[in-house]
Amino acid sequence: MSRQYYIAGNWKMHKTRAEAAALANELVEQLKGASHKYLVAPSFTLIETVAGIVKGTNIRLGAQNMAPEEQGAHTGEVSVLQLKDIGVETVILGHSERRHNYLEYDSLINKKVHLALKHGLEVILCVGELLEEREAGQAEKVCESQIVNGLEDVSAPELANVVIAYEPVWAIGTGKTATPEDADAIHAYIRKVIGRLYSSTAAENIIIQYGGSVKSDNVKALMAKENIDGALVGGASLKSETFVPIAKFS
Ligand code: PGA
Repeated sequence: MSRQYYIAGNWKMHKTRAEAAALANELVEQLKGASHKYLVAPSFTLIETVAGIVKGTNIRLGAQNMAPEEQGAHTGEVSVLQLKDIGVETVILGHSERRHNYLEYDSLINKKVHLALKHGLEVILCVGELLEEREAGQAEKVCESQIVNGLEDVSAPELANVVIAYEPVWAIGTGKTATPEDADAIHAYIRKVIGRLYSSTAAENIIIQYGGSVKSDNVKALMAKENIDGALVGGASLKSETFVPIAKFS
């Protein structure tokens, strides 16, 4: 497979600056020379601290969200310009916690995707179905619509800076992981959708991460699947003891 494995840690709303610095230092040390692509995404207030530690290493710096506008009267929001100013290279958009707890919808996410790409950030676009949608046989349809709408008017050259993360909502933070077969089936479907929207080359090249209770004991079986190119890791990314074994799977 020509696609490089991409392992990302989403720290969510955890850690103080001192704790973030400690973890970032451990990761820099322990992932030195490791072969996959890596990212950490700390909370906004921690980014500058972590930026100083991961700069020039093999760990990219990410943010977990951003505003749909460049600047202006948007109380409580953080802009793409501010993220770039402190060294952010990647932004996670459309995470299920944003979609379901903070009611972010596809057209808003699409606006953010465009703004991030315009400013040269890599985007990790998250998609995934709820348990009731899976049980109703709608998993593919839900992911397809999140992709079609989230990527609306994104050009083929811009797509090269987009990573998709398939995160079934029922698997996030629950300890329940999709089986490698079920995850791979959705990944294959997503690839088909990208092929239809763009080209077979785009479908072949796009990185599709799996997320939802990825741990050191299930990462290998998931990554062995043809269409799974990496992981977006929440809970297990909060300690080097749990993240490094995932990051260094072989
Ligand atoms: P989890 O979170 O690994 O804790 O399930 C994954 C995510 O939300 O990105």
